[in-house]
Parts: sequence; structure tokens; C-alpha cells
Amino acid sequence: MCGIIGFTGSKEAQNILLDGLQKLEYRGYDSAGIAFFKDNGSHVSIRKTAGKVDDLRAICDEENNSTCGIGHTRWATHGGVTNANAHPHKFGNVTLIHNGIIENYHELIEKYNLKGQLKSDTDSEIAAAVIDAHYDGDPKEAIKAAVKELKGAFAFCVLFKGHPGEVYAIRNVSPMVASYAAGAGAFIASDITAFIEYTNRYFVLPEYHLLTMKEDGIFLENLSGQAVEPEFMTVDWDVTTAQKGGYPYFMIKEIHEEPTALANTINPRISDLLPDFSADEVPDSLFAGVKDITIIACGTAMYAGNVGGAFIRNKLGIPVTVAIASEFRYERPTISKDTLVIVASQSGETIDTLEALKLAKQYTDRTLSIVNVKGSSIARESHHVLYTHGGPEIAVASTKAYSVQVAVLYLVACKLGLVNNSLNEADVRDFISDLRNIPSMVEELLNQEDKIARQADRMANATDAFFIGRGLDYSLSMEGALKLKEISYIHAEAYAAGELKHGTISLITDGTPVIAIATQQNVYGKVVSNIREVKARGAYVILLSKDKVITDNTICDVHFSLPAVRDELTVFESAVILQILAYYTSLGKGNNPDQPRNLAKSVTVE
Ligand code: F6R
Repeated sequence: MCGIIGFTGSKEAQNILLDGLQKLEYRGYDSAGIAFFKDNGSHVSIRKTAGKVDDLRAICDEENNSTCGIGHTRWATHGGVTNANAHPHKFGNVTLIHNGIIENYHELIEKYNLKGQLKSDTDSEIAAAVIDAHYDGDPKEAIKAAVKELKGAFAFCVLFKGHPGEVYAIRNVSPMVASYAAGAGAFIASDITAFIEYTNRYFVLPEYHLLTMKEDGIFLENLSGQAVEPEFMTVDWDVTTAQKGGYPYFMIKEIHEEPTALANTINPRISDLLPDFSADEVPDSLFAGVKDITIIACGTAMYAGNVGGAFIRNKLGIPVTVAIASEFRYERPTISKDTLVIVASQSGETIDTLEALKLAKQYTDRTLSIVNVKGSSIARESHHVLYTHGGPEIAVASTKAYSVQVAVLYLVACKLGLVNNSLNEADVRDFISDLRNIPSMVEELLNQEDKIARQADRMANATDAFFIGRGLDYSLSMEGALKLKEISYIHAEAYAAGELKHGTISLITDGTPVIAIATQQNVYGKVVSNIREVKARGAYVILLSKDKVITDNTICDVHFSLPAVRDELTVFESAVILQILAYYTSLGKGNNPDQPRNLAKSVTVE
């Protein structure tokens, strides 16, 4: 959470910072600010405001020839959304931006006698004060001494008065990546989308290592002052992938990217119609003798885990627990050395998921992460990683990342079954040959976008909505409900279709939207009976099923027909319909689907 960027080089900094912040805005959009050296470095100027990056742009000078600065877009933690709490914060000689939470800020206020000297309610300003207290002309020594006193997560970019053209950066837990692009200069940011326009090479700033950025180069060192060689990586996408490409919002663009994301994730991992993780360097021995599985994640990634978990349980008959990361961390773990722990995360930075993974590693050497962002903390922390090749996901509401996570879980299930002889090769080949067709099926479904959009007006007027299904459809319903509520602000709940009549059906009144998913043939008749129960009580039913047409209006008001695929694969199709429905409902309510209120992507605070 919070997006940060720093630049120093031969180009004008202001637009690099503002454009970078715009790309990082998905991380938080409560306030924004920049700081830059002015008047040949004799002082540091700040522009900041509550609001979005566009509001910040409006208060920036038209002409600004400074070539060095830092920028921040905030998701409020300590202190409300005010101009004073916006970053950067200046204290004495120090100006900084911060992502994270300083846990011992109370003690530090006392220790440095800061009461009455602070202009904001943030923990970040206190960090600036502590660095300033240690500063006697040497920026590096000041930062090194200060971070020893700070408890919590932080990523800082710091400017020091009297050191023009220099940006210093250090982090613990909170992510930061950096690079140097010849002809432009040195960059640092919360993620590479902020500077992909200048270079596709980057390195993850190691924790408690200090980066010095100057116009002519960067220098990385540990806290003892020894030089450390950055480990550069390359991303295989470019600036166009991180732009809207003609779509009005990232969310709808990312939904349209699902066929490609699925193909890119699935196809390289198939050889001779069998799952093959050799290019990922994930050995078969990881799966041999696995007795049970624990899948750990948050939000949408956890709902992908629900689908994958249900699939593995039914296909392989082994116990699978799907754990909410923030709960798992504080419960007594029930994992052993024969447990395969699978951790799913789009960003690879979700703090609860990361900490849960660290905890799980105390019990098993078999951890496998499914992560979209290359080199992210979760990917580096787990024993093995299967990257999803979804490309950057910028809309706050996760869409394509969900589908590719499910796809990888399906491949893992096949691999587990083969390695442990609970599936035979012929059956796996049949399954994989169907899985390979999923991208084109999803593409076909996207043709129904207009029809889905037409439901948005009715949905937008609702105050509550229910998603029902059985089996895999129930698991998927949870994600459908989350998508709708997070961007439309309509209260939505998912229910196992058979469970409604144990309480919740009392909430169904005339016109309540019920989105019913009935794609699993073994329970199709049962779901239809449950639908009739809500229909009889006035619900407005939107049905997703594999039927070509449904003429019986006692079942539904609107029907979406899914291209015929085996039952286990319909979730990829239904997910897209539910995502599009949520998107247009959000638009129908006049919301910005990319930046729903109170939310931010990449939840790096607990
Ligand atoms: C919802 C959404 C969130 C994330 C969750 C985990 O649309 O995006 O629920 O899924 O915050 O994020 P990652 O996958 O980055 O760990």
C-alpha cells in the first residue's frame, strides 16, 4: 500500500514522478505529493495535497527543471486524509516518503522529545525526525543509525538538504525495486510499472540495504558499508501492457486479457499433454508422498484457492484446507512435513500471506507459491514458485490474476495425481487437452459483454445481492460476491445453494437479485430446485448454466449460456461473466471501478 517513486538523472524529474505516481495510484489514492531539489539544491520544495495524482498535478508548477525528486501516493494508515498528512514529510534537513507502519512511534516521540514539533499525525514524520536527529552531514550514517531504532515495516526514499541530485533509499518488508537506465538516470519505486517506460531491468532492493542514487549511477551497500551487487531481473512486458490500450478502465482491459493470460500461464507448462514444471525448476519430489495440502492466501487469491482446493479434494481425495492468511498466522498450524503448503498472491507482497508463509516454513520444507509479480517477497520466500504469466494487474479488483491462479492450481492437482499415482496419464491428458481450450472458450464468452452490461442498471439499483451455487460453483460464487461488493458497494453474499433456506432466504424480497450458477451436472437438479425457491419469493434471477436456452421463466429472468466444457472448467467462463457484471454495475452506479473507495491493491499492512 502507498506508492513511492524516486528519480535522479539528466531528465526533468517532475513529470517522471507524476507519471510514475499515476501508474502507482492503484496502491492508494487518498493523497499525493512530490519533493524536489530547488535553486541548485539549496533547498527542497514540496507540493502535496489530499486527493488523487490529478489533484497534485494541478498544484505543481508548469515549469520545473529539477532533475531529482521523490513522490508518494498514500493509502492512509496513521492519521486522516488531510494535506498535512500527505507525504513527503520534512523535518530539519530531511525530507522523506514512506510506505509501511512504524510501530514504535510513541516511544520515539518521547525519546526525541518531538511533541509540539510535528506538523502531521503520521508515523512517517517521526521517522524523518529520527533520521534528522542522527544527521551531522553524512546521509548514509544518519539513515543507518535511524533504521536501527525503527520497528515495523518501511520503505523510505529520502532527500537531504545540501545534497542535491542524491536520493537515498532503504526498506524492511515493504517492497521497493530500483534500476539505472543509461541516458535517463536512476529510478526507485514500489513496483516497476512506475518506470517501465525507461527500462525493463530492475532489482529488488534487499532488506536493510542502503541504496544511493545519483545522476551517474547507483550504489548498493549493506549496513556495514560493504558494496553489494544488485541482482537484476528483466520483465517480459513493456509500457503498453501497463497502459489502458483504448479501454476506459484497466479492469475491463484486464478482463479482456484473460484468454492471453491463461494461454501464457498454461501452455508453457504442458508437454505431451502432461503438466511439466521443469522450466520452473519445481521438482516432482515436491509432490511425492504429500498427505495433505494447505492453501494460504487473502481475498480473491484465497477464493481462487477455494476453487483449486475443492478441485484437488474431489479429484485426488486428499484433505485440503484453505486458510485465510490473517487467521492462519494466529491459529495453531495443523501442518506437518508431508503437507504441501501452497501460497497464492498476485502481488507477492501481501503482508499477511508473506508472514503466514514464513510461519508455515517452520513446519514443512514443501512450500510452493503461485505469484504474478516476478521477484516479489512471497516468490523469494517460498521454497518453490510457479509464476502466473498474467502481466501487470493494475485495477484494484483482481480479475485475470484469479483465473490464472485457478489454472495453476489445476495443473498442480494433475501433477500431484500423477506423481502419487492417484490419476492415470490418459485421464490427465484428456483433462489437459480440455484445459488448453479454455482460453478460446473465454474469448467466445467475451462476446456476451453487451448482454451482461444490460443487466447493470437493474443491479445498480439493488441494495443486496446473493450468489448461489453448489460445489465448484459455490466456491466461485464467493469471488462473484466479492467482485460486486468491492467495486459497486452493493452488499453481496455467496451461499451454498442448499444453505439459503437455513436462514438467509428471509432476506429475499421482490426484485432481490440472485445470481445462480448451475454448471455442475451432479447437483444441477438440486440447484434448480433452490432457484425455484428464491424465484417463488420474488427474486430476480440471473442464471449461468451450460444450457443452450432456458424457456421456463419460473427458473430465471435472464440466462447466460456458457460454452460447453467439462464441469470442472466452467469456473473460468462463469468468472468472466461475474467480473463483467460487477464492472458494469460499478459504472452504472457512477463509480470508478479501477479505484474503489477505501481500497488499495497490494495490502502491505496487517
Ligand atoms: C480483490 C482483491 C484482493 C486481493 C487480496 C490479495 O479484488 O484484489 O482481495 O486478492 O488483497 O492480494 P494478492 O493476491 O496480491 O496477495
